[in-house]
Amino acid sequence: MKAGHFLDLADLDRAEIAGLLDLAGRLERRPEPRALAGKVLALLFFNPSLRTLASFQSGMARLGGSSFVISPGQGSWLLETRQGAVMDGAAAEHVREAIPVLASYADALGIRSFAGGSDLAADLADSTFRAMVEVCPAPVINLESALNHPCQALGDWKTMDDLDIPAAGGKFVLTWANHPKPLPLAVPAAAVHMAAARGMEVVVLRPDKYALPAAVMAKAQRAAAASGGSLRETAARDDALAGAQVVYAKSWSSPAHYGDLDTEHRLRAGLRHWCVDEDWFAPARLDCRFMHCLPVRRNVVVSDAVLDGPRSVVVHQARNRMWSQMAVLHELLKGNGR
Ligand code: CP
Repeated sequence: MKAGHFLDLADLDRAEIAGLLDLAGRLERRPEPRALAGKVLALLFFNPSLRTLASFQSGMARLGGSSFVISPGQGSWLLETRQGAVMDGAAAEHVREAIPVLASYADALGIRSFAGGSDLAADLADSTFRAMVEVCPAPVINLESALNHPCQALGDWKTMDDLDIPAAGGKFVLTWANHPKPLPLAVPAAAVHMAAARGMEVVVLRPDKYALPAAVMAKAQRAAAASGGSLRETAARDDALAGAQVVYAKSWSSPAHYGDLDTEHRLRAGLRHWCVDEDWFAPARLDCRFMHCLPVRRNVVVSDAVLDGPRSVVVHQARNRMWSQMAVLHELLKGNGR
């Protein structure tokens, strides 16, 4: 991988993405249980996970390597991430020391560090995550930062390839969905960029006040322009879903009221009907698929009928996290003589 890290799918050109997807498919069909023998992956999780943690540990083991997990404050020191902090609070150690130390025990470091959720400009700049990458002497894998989830995006691209969902011109609808809490922008930003980079007709369906930030849309527009895809947004459900081949649901915070929890809760009280149900698919293609990154709240984000029905490919998506991440690990670490 030219960049030496795996931080953002936008850092890779189309040929590099195609190479990773080919490799992921090959590793799925033909195991390479010694490919990363002797290699160690450190996984630093500031936030909870089921899929990312388990799929990286399983993937590393399937390639013959090993991994260890640090969850700050759970059996290890709480870590400070703020630059220039006076560390007289709960955190005993700064990431400026902890990250180089962890990197000295490993060949690559995965970091999960979610959005702060109060300062939109800081979260759009992904500043906390970027500062950690800067002090890491080893390759870094983004396990979900404030604004990005490239591992999810790569696995989702593979899932659509597996299902023969057309890249050029296939219609991909990213829909906002109900949720009791304001959630980060990382997955919607990564998903809309990925589908645009794949060359799809991308529509963002969202209520008023939930338009994605201009910077997120502009990045996806650039990807669409390069791939021959398209991107637009609307609040009109039937228009968005007409002819859709994929409905990808995700909730996110209102960029217009970022960090304002009272307004978020007031807005969301009127948006409980944004729970994806079978009737949403009436204008879509008969074989339209339902995607979600998981975890998902049943009958809040999406109905049981959709999740348990034939449209849902959410477990396929989760499984593809492992194969696609194995390809990333293989590319970053095979032949790396650190
Ligand atoms: N989709 C995803 O990243 O899942 P986890 O939060 O469980 O890792």
